[in-house]
Amino acid sequence: PGTLTVGELAAKLHKDSSEIIKKLMFLGVMATKNEQLSKETIELLGEEFGVEVEEEVYVDELDIEHYVEEDDDKEEHLQERPPVVTIMGHVDHGKTTLLDSIRHTKVTEGEAGGITQHIGAYQVEENGKKITFLDTPGHAAFTTMRARGAQVTDITILVVAADDGVMPQTVEAINHAKAAEVPIIVAVNKMDKENANPDRVMQELSEHNLLPEAWGGDTIFVNVSAVKNEGIDELLEMILLVAEVEELKANPDKRGRGTVVEAELDKGRGPVATLLVQSGTMKVGDPIVVGNTFGRIRAMVNDVGRRVKTAGPSTPVEITGLNDVPQAGDQFVIFEDEKKARQIGEARGVRARDEERSQTNKVSLDDLFDQI
Ligand code: GTP
Ligand code: MG
Repeated sequence: PGTLTVGELAAKLHKDSSEIIKKLMFLGVMATKNEQLSKETIELLGEEFGVEVEEEVYVDELDIEHYVEEDDDKEEHLQERPPVVTIMGHVDHGKTTLLDSIRHTKVTEGEAGGITQHIGAYQVEENGKKITFLDTPGHAAFTTMRARGAQVTDITILVVAADDGVMPQTVEAINHAKAAEVPIIVAVNKMDKENANPDRVMQELSEHNLLPEAWGGDTIFVNVSAVKNEGIDELLEMILLVAEVEELKANPDKRGRGTVVEAELDKGRGPVATLLVQSGTMKVGDPIVVGNTFGRIRAMVNDVGRRVKTAGPSTPVEITGLNDVPQAGDQFVIFEDEKKARQIGEARGVRARDEERSQTNKVSLDDLFDQI
């Protein structure tokens, strides 16, 4: 893709091959009819003939992965990055309360004004190291993202209420995390309750192959009380410990790429998307392709509502400047060239709409059969 022979170009320009060959000679290039022309030469010839040459977009070029700068970074380019953590667990076991407790004890410190804006993902600091939390703890969100090929989580916190023990959604969460090969840290919550029974939780989780370290296994258990803010520091320390073992690294010195955490249409600001950068760095002003849309980053806001100019690996930011609203789990890639970003974004949009249409057609065909 991307190149043509003299003959092919002649056909496209509705010229005779000899005319092209003459022009090439004039440009100091000796060529035959079957000569492959470089992209630059084709553009040059286009100019000579007064035609604007637009590169054709091939299907594999619509694959966002096509534009991801190779991840075969040399060790010296890799830098430690914060772990990305998701909290899962059964209904009412205290996921939201635990997240709130972590955020309030850790984020507001030193942040005048506190949280002015909620962006669906945030960072806290423990012992001078950052931890990124994805505030989309629902299993559904986790599954959707994974189903769409987006692996964003490095560590899962499994919340189990000490007074309730392992429940159906606890098991579901374990299965999700295991399928994604994400390490699990167990937070035994509601330890302040009179009927708290952490031993029972350990017993029940052991039956699901999560054997506590205290019993010779390798799963970390931390007893916490989200309402009393107890055990939070220890939990954060354990997250950092696991992160260290995982050796989470990324190259910040290349074009950013990552995943959409959430997105919506804001009345005043237009499409707004919370993005998690997974490698590289993105900057205000960068052209970007996100899912089936594109744009140019107009503004970036971090998890505490501050405007920022750049965002590196494991950083969540909210951006504006997109042409349309992407979906959670969509991949994004920063482009160098705005024209290219537009071309790819538009082509992806067209393809997505075509696919949708053909699917609608299929459905109506099925309906037809139903009626027969
Ligand atoms: P869903 O989002 O519905 O799945 O629930 P959740 O897991 O987010 O639980 P949530 O944080 O909403 O807590 C459920 C209830 O448990 C609330 O009434 C909390 O106040 C209470 N709760 C959470 N953590 C603790 C705790 O450490 N101790 C006690 N005593 N209650 C807690
Ligand atoms: Mg909740």
